[in-house]
Amino acid sequence: MDKLPEYPRLTEHLIADVAVIGGGMAGLLTAFSLHRVGLRVVVLEENRLAGGATGRCTARLSAQHGLFCERLIRDFGEHLARQYVMAQLHAVKQYRDLTAALGVDCGWRDQTSRVCTAPNGPDLSREYAAAVLLGAPVELQAVKGLPFPVRESVCFTNQATFEPLPLFAALLPGLAVYEHSPVRDVRGHLVRCDSGSVEARHIVVATRYPLLERWGFYHLRLRQEQIHLLELTGAPPIDGWYLDADTRGWSLQQRGNSLILGGGLHRSGEYQGNSYDRLREQARLWFPEAREVRAWSSQDCVTMDGVPYIGRYGAAAPYLHVAAGFGRWGLTNSMVAATLLTAEILDKHYPYAEVFSPARFFPSASIEAMMEGALYAIRGKKRRLYTVAERETAAIPRGSAAIVRHHGRQYGVYRDEQDRLYAVSPVCPHRGCALEWNADDKTWDCPCHGSRFDYTGRRLDCPARAALKQTDAKLL
Ligand SMILES: Cc1cc2nc3c(=O)[nH]c(=O)nc-3n(C[C@H](O)[C@H](O)[C@H](O)COP(=O)(O)OP(=O)(O)OC[C@H]3O[C@@H](n4cnc5c(N)ncnc54)[C@H](O)[C@@H]3O)c2cc1C
Ligand code: FES
Repeated sequence: MDKLPEYPRLTEHLIADVAVIGGGMAGLLTAFSLHRVGLRVVVLEENRLAGGATGRCTARLSAQHGLFCERLIRDFGEHLARQYVMAQLHAVKQYRDLTAALGVDCGWRDQTSRVCTAPNGPDLSREYAAAVLLGAPVELQAVKGLPFPVRESVCFTNQATFEPLPLFAALLPGLAVYEHSPVRDVRGHLVRCDSGSVEARHIVVATRYPLLERWGFYHLRLRQEQIHLLELTGAPPIDGWYLDADTRGWSLQQRGNSLILGGGLHRSGEYQGNSYDRLREQARLWFPEAREVRAWSSQDCVTMDGVPYIGRYGAAAPYLHVAAGFGRWGLTNSMVAATLLTAEILDKHYPYAEVFSPARFFPSASIEAMMEGALYAIRGKKRRLYTVAERETAAIPRGSAAIVRHHGRQYGVYRDEQDRLYAVSPVCPHRGCALEWNADDKTWDCPCHGSRFDYTGRRLDCPARAALKQTDAKLL
């Protein structure tokens, strides 16, 4: 099943206990959890439900988030590190119980997750010891059956894969959902869309990148990272899923009859060049008999210290709640968000809340990312001042783009394969950084906070709220 029911646009003024902004897994699970305890919940979605990261994810449901246990203990201390791991393990169990209770046919498969190291890669024994200390179901195992050498892997047993959309659909009955209803603003308890509004005692912002910038300084505390994926058929099946110990390395996962090969992780807006071609080369080497079915990229938010922000949005607005910064591990973290925010709204105790508090600040875990973020913001603005026009419009080959200067102004110009020209402002409407051309996806990407636009200027991803200004390219 891959079709969800359609919902109307919001065209009236509603009163609710909770308004949930964002119809991805985080928003929907939270809405479901609140609705189940009897609260009146309204879900507001800008486009279609599950049209964001949820609809594009590779659906590994695991408490093992890369090599993370040793890092968590170092940065947060053992007590908070254990909270994180326990919350994730509990989330996997909650999914298992929920899919069984709702009788959802979602291809649930218990699986072992594995983080692997190359023969000359890092030693995994310290990560293993840290995971044991934190109470994870961890083992050190040899790896067989991959077409390249792996020294060993650190594994979490009893994790799972499933198809998220059937579960997503099963959460919907009884919920008040409005699609094509972008939230434009929140003033006090009033959530405003274009042609309707919701007045709610509590407001949950589950828009992946936090929508409201008046509180919490989230744009200074989050970055976005892009990952590239290939779906292959005809390769010999592998058992379960595997991640490289290096976060910028490969990932492999069996999904039905297909093999998903991922890689090329990078900060959004920092174009690496030929990401798909490099993945294809790897695929040819490892699985010469395989055929490519599709290639795609997607991005997710990462916090400064690598742990999501789930809890009160900011001190000044206790009725506002946020769930963000899942760093590609949003399935378990969506469940954590639903449970934590339901407890917060009902004024109940959730034992693992402290580690997710958006108010936390751990200097050792955050300073480097903070400096990097500031550097990108400065560079993004400076580049706008000093970018030189690379070439004349006439010199842009088909399928390519360039920054063109005309009467003292800069334009981002793309020439498509049919020789049509598209000219847009190459300045991000979010906070004015210079956009980078991403030749792999044919998009203009922002290195500052990760907004993305297609070559016609249409906004693909937040935090920018507006499209790029278009210009008639014939005038250039
Ligand atoms: C390629 C990829 C692979 C992944 N694989 C995994 C995996 O294997 N395992 C795992 O645990 N996680 C994975 N993730 C992460 C996971 O899919 C997500 O974190 C998870 O689905 C939760 O998403 P979300 O609800 O936070 O965001 P989304 O699904 O993006 O939902 C946010 C919603 O908010 C809406 N919105 C935004 N602004 C507004 C507004 N102003 N008004 C109304 N609505 C608005 C958007 O339209 C969107 O629908 C992956 C992510 C990617 C990109
Ligand atoms: S300036 Fe923030 S996303 Fe572009």
